[in-house]
Amino acid sequence: MGIRKILTDKDPALHKVCKPVEAFDKKLHKLLDDMAQTLEEANGVGLAAPQVGILRRVVIVDIGEEILELVNPTLVETSGEQTGAEGCLSVPGKYGLVTRPNKAKVRAQDRDGNWFEAEGEELIARCFCHELDHLDGILYTQVMDRFLTEEELEEL
Ligand code: NI
Repeated sequence: MGIRKILTDKDPALHKVCKPVEAFDKKLHKLLDDMAQTLEEANGVGLAAPQVGILRRVVIVDIGEEILELVNPTLVETSGEQTGAEGCLSVPGKYGLVTRPNKAKVRAQDRDGNWFEAEGEELIARCFCHELDHLDGILYTQVMDRFLTEEELEEL
């Protein structure tokens, strides 16, 4: 296991479309293990592979009881709407006001290649959408209404 460096928004890796994972091998497992450790260290909710410089379609989300590993994920269903504060480990110190679906269902493969579906609401739905956007080179700053003000940040 190892902690990897989290790239910030100036890095070109964060603005590229990631390739699908084809090999469900030790290298992928090491990446997922390292990403989990990196996420815990950074005290974040979710992390996408391009944030650690790997241009593959891999995302992890802390859903509370476990770290959900999503390989080659797609959004299959969304409903409702939520507007709230959103941050990103690659955009340190800032938060934006972002509208996302209130519920989201993703279809993905696990670390061994088995397909499954996972559903989330509120923060988890927001996180699914945010992390999947990373795989297409999209940061929340490109889809937000605006950055939160200093006063609004103090209320978070
Ligand atoms: Ni992010």
